[in-house]
Amino acid sequence: MKIILGITGGIAAYKAAELVRLFLKKGDEIEVVMTEAASRFIAPLTLQALSGKPVRLSQWEDMAHIDLSRGADAILVAPATADFIAKIANGLADDLLSSLCLARNCPLYIAPAMNRQMWENAATKRNIERVREDGVVLIGPGEGLQACGETGMGRMSEPEDIASFLVASPKRLSGKQFLITAGPTIEPIDPVRVITNRSSGKMGYAVARAALESGAEVTLVSGPTGLFPPAGAKYIPVSTAAEMLDAVMENIHGQDVFVAVAAVADYRVVNPGTSKIKKAGKLLLELEPNPDILATVSGLDNPPFCVGFAAETENLDENALLKLKRKKIPMIVGNLAGDAIGGDENEIVIYSGEGAKRLPRSSKKVLARQLLEEIEKQLS
Ligand code: CTP
Repeated sequence: MKIILGITGGIAAYKAAELVRLFLKKGDEIEVVMTEAASRFIAPLTLQALSGKPVRLSQWEDMAHIDLSRGADAILVAPATADFIAKIANGLADDLLSSLCLARNCPLYIAPAMNRQMWENAATKRNIERVREDGVVLIGPGEGLQACGETGMGRMSEPEDIASFLVASPKRLSGKQFLITAGPTIEPIDPVRVITNRSSGKMGYAVARAALESGAEVTLVSGPTGLFPPAGAKYIPVSTAAEMLDAVMENIHGQDVFVAVAAVADYRVVNPGTSKIKKAGKLLLELEPNPDILATVSGLDNPPFCVGFAAETENLDENALLKLKRKKIPMIVGNLAGDAIGGDENEIVIYSGEGAKRLPRSSKKVLARQLLEEIEKQLS
């Protein structure tokens, strides 16, 4: 692959050196284009030495800048700053890199990197939405400790993830519609108390992001989580299981795949208090079962391809396979509940007509991509 690697001016620019190394190792040809600001974070000479080619910095050096992107298979901008994303969202072309992006006839991938508040700013959200609509493919960002000392969304994806993303051609699921549930549900006891569970929503959001990266149209119905909704997804926040069922049924028509990652509360309180229940000795709560969303969808006349999740504390194979049969679904993802809940990593087994596929411990992000590959195989 011939890749133009654009580097813009953020602290994550130092990771671009590793990216160049990874691409060259895979046998890709790399042409580096830097903005003036990027050259203040990492020396062009470093990238020149690594890529074995002169690094382009200015659009005034020659008039061949448009040809540069004509021969390329992809342009990747990593890191892509908030400022650069604003530029491409608006079609500005005031330096070499933005001109190349505007004049390209190849896919454009961007790996955003910025402070978490910049990422959450309404203007950035708007720009992200717009570039997605224009067909730009986003890689990340991720969550974590930032250079400014804050923790949150906006860290550039790791170079390995970016490099492997470009190999796995991203548009495999284009034209497919995915409906995904994620997070916990919360069931009120009274106006101030609830029954819920420890689901963080991380796996469901990772599945949504991986589906978006693969070109699918994604609707994400999510219980309350502390997570930032993936840009580009239709996002429907809900709180109770009944609300989740309603949102799913309103959107199920035309879906190709339904992935039920949510940890739906199995029970709800029969008559939740309308005012705060006062402490007075023992309290007995009467609970009734919630509807089974996954079984409701798989029981439709013409159901989408349904994927369930089974978090078990023991007998994983047996329990997961029982659920697969009981809910009449073609695929279920099992994991042993424990440290996976709330964490960034997991270890899963995918059960389907093809048998059991065990995926070793890895980040939820990587597992989500592997799961999508399995879904894709079954769809075809
Ligand atoms: N599920 C659902 N609606 C429910 C309960 C579960 O859609 N009311 C889905 C989950 O999203 C998951 C799968 O069904 O994909 C299995 O969920 P789980 O809670 O493990 O199974 P249950 O059927 O509730 O069985 P149990 O809690 O007894 O293990």
